[in-house]
This record gives sequence, structure tokens and C-alpha cells, in this order.
Amino acid sequence: MWSDPEHRELRRRGPISAHVIVVGNEKGGSGKSTTAMHLAVALMKAGQRVATIDLDSRQSTLTHYVERRRLWGHKINQPLDIPLHFCIARSEGARVDENEAAEFGRFADAITEIEHRHDFLVIDTPGADTFLSRLAHSMADTLVTPLNDSFLDFDVLAAVDPQTFEITGASHYAELVREARRQRRIVDGKVTDWVVVRNRLSTLGSRNRKLVAEGLNVLSGRFGFRFVEGFAERVIYREFFPRGLTAIDDIGEQTLGTRPSLSHVTARLEVQGLLSSLRLPLDDRGRKRAEARAEWFMSAYRPLDTDDLLDDGLGEEKGPVTLPRMPDPTSPVTR
Ligand SMILES: Nc1ncnc2c1ncn2[C@@H]1O[C@H](COP(=O)(O)OP(=O)(O)O)[C@@H](O)[C@H]1O
Ligand SMILES: [Mg+2]
Repeated sequence: MWSDPEHRELRRRGPISAHVIVVGNEKGGSGKSTTAMHLAVALMKAGQRVATIDLDSRQSTLTHYVERRRLWGHKINQPLDIPLHFCIARSEGARVDENEAAEFGRFADAITEIEHRHDFLVIDTPGADTFLSRLAHSMADTLVTPLNDSFLDFDVLAAVDPQTFEITGASHYAELVREARRQRRIVDGKVTDWVVVRNRLSTLGSRNRKLVAEGLNVLSGRFGFRFVEGFAERVIYREFFPRGLTAIDDIGEQTLGTRPSLSHVTARLEVQGLLSSLRLPLDDRGRKRAEARAEWFMSAYRPLDTDDLLDDGLGEEKGPVTLPRMPDPTSPVTR
């Protein structure tokens, strides 16, 4: 069922000022939650105020990711950027209309809390067609679809002849996105930027990688998306999860809990590359916040030396001291 009345109701409460990024793909394991978390952290590092919503309450991967990050931050006694996070539980009652009404209520409450205090809202969706996932898709300013870099995963977009790239039919998901974009246009006249992000790219240049690019080229014209390179296949993306870390976090040994490798450095560049290729509206205010915060982080771990008080602050560093913790970054008032 389409959620037009609900969508209108959300918009009637006032324009959604945060830029909404929806991460969606009906296939499980394509990298949605990993991408959502990396984007959220990368945006916070860029000084943006970010909230996240997990609509996949069965798996709750993004929710666990955020919780683990909070715990790891406490453990290493370092303030890690944490988004204001909501996990919207699915209703499992016998009546569909009551379930949808209850889910909508929880979702709308979360939106109300996020509104006007955040620059970006990142929504992670389940690998299934659900009521709230459709509603989220129809609210997207930017729709990010991570796609494993293989022809096998093309079927989430369309049935394609691997030899000729001839499209023999659109997929259920491509139809869903088409309808969601149509809804978006009707409600507020805006166009959703649909970006397919190639994930788990082979680190060695391969024939497959080139063929997938050619196939996506054909599909992008037909369905109106652009495609960009995302993350390479790297073990470290799986290793980040237990600590709630991302490739964009400081790659110091203390934060990582292990020695950084070349893979960390390259992954970090990949995340920065993805952020810039999404062409998101990062504002200058955000950049200034990022600079101020970086300075704060630096000073938080610099020893307070009497030299600092007497000279121009260029004195030698003497080793870290423990400073009072930062205010809770999840509190909307302080963010
Ligand atoms: N680029 C990558 N390299 C290696 N492992 C990855 C990569 N992207 C995702 N993964 C791993 O694949 C699994 C599924 O990713 P996830 O983000 O949970 O997908 P989804 O949310 O679409 O189901 C996770 O174990 C994740 O760590
Ligand atoms: Mg997921």
C-alpha cells in the first residue's frame, strides 16, 4: 500500500529541514547498514548535525552499530561522534491497518524530535518491502543503493542479459523507487537523487569490474540513477563493527584498539570519496563546527602545561592527561 496520506501528514507538520538520506536495496547483505553508519559518521566529522533511524528492527544492525560505538567510546575514554538514533519497531498485530498506524506514530514522533535540530537524517531500511520503508523512500532527498559489484546483484534493479546488457524487465525494487519518486514530486515537487553505490569492489582491476560498469551505464539511463564507486572488499569493514568504528574515525592505535594498516588509510579515502561523490549540501556552518570540534578534540588530549599559559603554546607535548568528558553528544540540546 502507498503511504500518500501519511507522507502528506508528515509534510503538513512543517517542511523537513534535515536533508534525508535513505539507504535502500531489497537485497540483504548488500552493505546498507555499513554504508549508513559510514555516511552518518563521515557527515558528523564534517561538522553536520546527524540523526539516524533504523527501520530494520528485526536485524537492528545499525542500532547495534551505534550502541557498540557508544560502549567503545566509554571503554577507550574518548568521545566518539554519536548520532541521535532511533530504532522503529515493527508492529506484529493481526490487523495491518492498526500495525501501520502504530508504526507511523512512532516514526512521526522520531521525525518530530529530529526536526530543525539536525542537518542530515540517515535512514537505514530492511531488505524487504515494508510500509515504513516505502514511506522513507518517498521522503528521500538522496537515495543511496549499495550494490555488490557483481552481475548476480543486478536483479535487484532489473533482469539483464549479461551478454548484450539488454534489459528484459524492471525489478520490484526499481518499480518501488519509481513510484516513491513520483510520490515525492506530487507532494513537494522535489526530485530524489538516486545514487547506486558499487560496494565490495575488487581491489585488483578486473574484467568483471569493467563489465559491471558497462551494465550499470545502460541501467542508469533507463532508471534515472547515477552510479559511483563505494567501498572495496576489505576485511576491515567487518572488523570495525564490534567496536562501532568506521573507516573515517581516527586511525590511531588507541581508537582502533589495534595497529592501523594501509587498508585503513585507503578505506578512509574511499569514505571521503563517497561523501564527495554524493554531492550533499554540506554548509559552511557545518565546516566551521567541524574545525572547532577538531580543535576541541586536539586540545582535550593535549596536556595542560604551564608553558601554555606563559608562552605562545608552541611548547613540547608532555603526554596525555585525563580531562573532563565532553557533554553527551546525543543530547539534541548540546548538538
Ligand atoms: N566493502 C565491504 N567489504 C567487506 N565486507 C563488507 C563490505 N560491505 C559490507 N560488508 C560486510 O557484509 C555484511 C553485510 O553488510 P550489511 O551492511 O549488514 O548489509 P545489509 O545492511 O545490506 O544487510 C556485514 O558483515 C558487513 O561487515
Ligand atoms: Mg542492514
